Amino acid sequence: MPTTGLPRRSALTRRKPVDRLVAEGGEGEGGSLRRSLGLWQLTMISIGATLGTGIFVVLGEAVPKAGPAVIVSFLLAGVTALFSALSYAELAGAIPVAGSSYSYAYATLGEFVAWVCGWCLVLEYGVSVAAVAVGWGQYVNEFLDGTIGVTLPEVISAPPGQGGVVNVPALAVVLLALVFLLGGAKESARANTIMVCVKIAALLLFCVIGFLGLRSANYADFAPYGVSGISAAGATLFFSYIGFDAASTAGEEATDAQRDLPRAIMLSLGIVTALYVLVAVVAVGARPWREFQGSEAALAGITRQVTGQNLWPVLLSLGAVVAIASVVLTVLYGQTRVIFAMSRDGLVPPVFSRVHAGSGTPRANTLLVVLFCGVLAAVVPLGNLADATSIGTLFAFALVNVAVIVLRRTRPGMRRSFRVPLFPVLPVLGFGFCVWLMFSLSTVTWVVFACWMLLGLVVYFGYGVRHSRLAAAAPPREK
Ligand code: ALA
Repeated sequence: MPTTGLPRRSALTRRKPVDRLVAEGGEGEGGSLRRSLGLWQLTMISIGATLGTGIFVVLGEAVPKAGPAVIVSFLLAGVTALFSALSYAELAGAIPVAGSSYSYAYATLGEFVAWVCGWCLVLEYGVSVAAVAVGWGQYVNEFLDGTIGVTLPEVISAPPGQGGVVNVPALAVVLLALVFLLGGAKESARANTIMVCVKIAALLLFCVIGFLGLRSANYADFAPYGVSGISAAGATLFFSYIGFDAASTAGEEATDAQRDLPRAIMLSLGIVTALYVLVAVVAVGARPWREFQGSEAALAGITRQVTGQNLWPVLLSLGAVVAIASVVLTVLYGQTRVIFAMSRDGLVPPVFSRVHAGSGTPRANTLLVVLFCGVLAAVVPLGNLADATSIGTLFAFALVNVAVIVLRRTRPGMRRSFRVPLFPVLPVLGFGFCVWLMFSLSTVTWVVFACWMLLGLVVYFGYGVRHSRLAAAAPPREK
């Protein structure tokens, strides 16, 4: 029930009791989410949301910043992700609900910080879909060029301001995801699993071909821009790790969330990091780093250069098309579940937490979120949003590290199926790395981030703070 009048002073700091969060798990307006996902599907959701544009497209933008030391940049971004992944694993095992870090922040740091975190997740999930869809269009063109020798004209493959009118491929991939998402979590997970297998196969194929073209001379000038180049590239490449947390948005659809969520998060991060480092070693070994400047679809280009044939780049482009489509699918899935949790708490309108009885999914939410993201991807020039997405994600991850520390203090005895080792050193390091990478991003990115957060404040103070369900309930007694 909405409250009226001005918010009480405690509004910004009110916390949602953990037990209430867990008790509400799965419940939406008019029904419950269906529990159908096991460890395998959860791991595939995280890999599905992670492996995509970052490795197939953004790698090409990062190499000119760091040279062959981009390998170290991948490790740096991976370690940052690892510290935060440990914190995610602990919280996902303790509070297995749908909202991911938004819900963890609500239980530990209060409503306002939770809102900020949720708003960052919209940047991480909802807005990144647009950036990802642009990368998809590049590989679709590469694929069409290789098979039938034509590419889509700019007027229908780029947004206004970038030489086009509407980005049809971006819209198409988002609408394709909608079909699966409306079918249900299990159907989406099944489609995603097939796509994940295809993309891993494509990356392994690249490694085999690239290996044949390795030249040790290409590693000679290893770090031409030193540590600053490595960290700048690391901050950019952090984008390629975004998504390992996607399983934590599925907490209410997992058959055994407490056991499987922490495992899925750690497993997916391990697999993805190993693949990234392998691909980076091969890519900079097979092509001199200076030649990456301005190269779109870099991995496909390398296979063409090494083999001199058209077949392999075409196969790789096909792999990338499938890979990036699965990122769109799983990231959109995550976005709908985060907004579902925010709506259940009253911070966004109730239509977003209405569950469709037949499919056991939030249908209205899915339609609205996907259509919004589709329009964003089609007509807004968002190609350079990868960095803006990273800064929002890094901020959310930093908060998750703090949330672990707070929950250990406020609820030391609660059941945790996974505990961060070396506590509190690793969460503190996780927080520090996230902040460091945030400061390695450009001023423009910070300005975009500041504008985004300002918009978030307007929405929160204009709607959320007055409709918060927690405000309408008795003050939490939990300690
Ligand atoms: N990590 C995702 C990608 O690289 C966002 O596409």
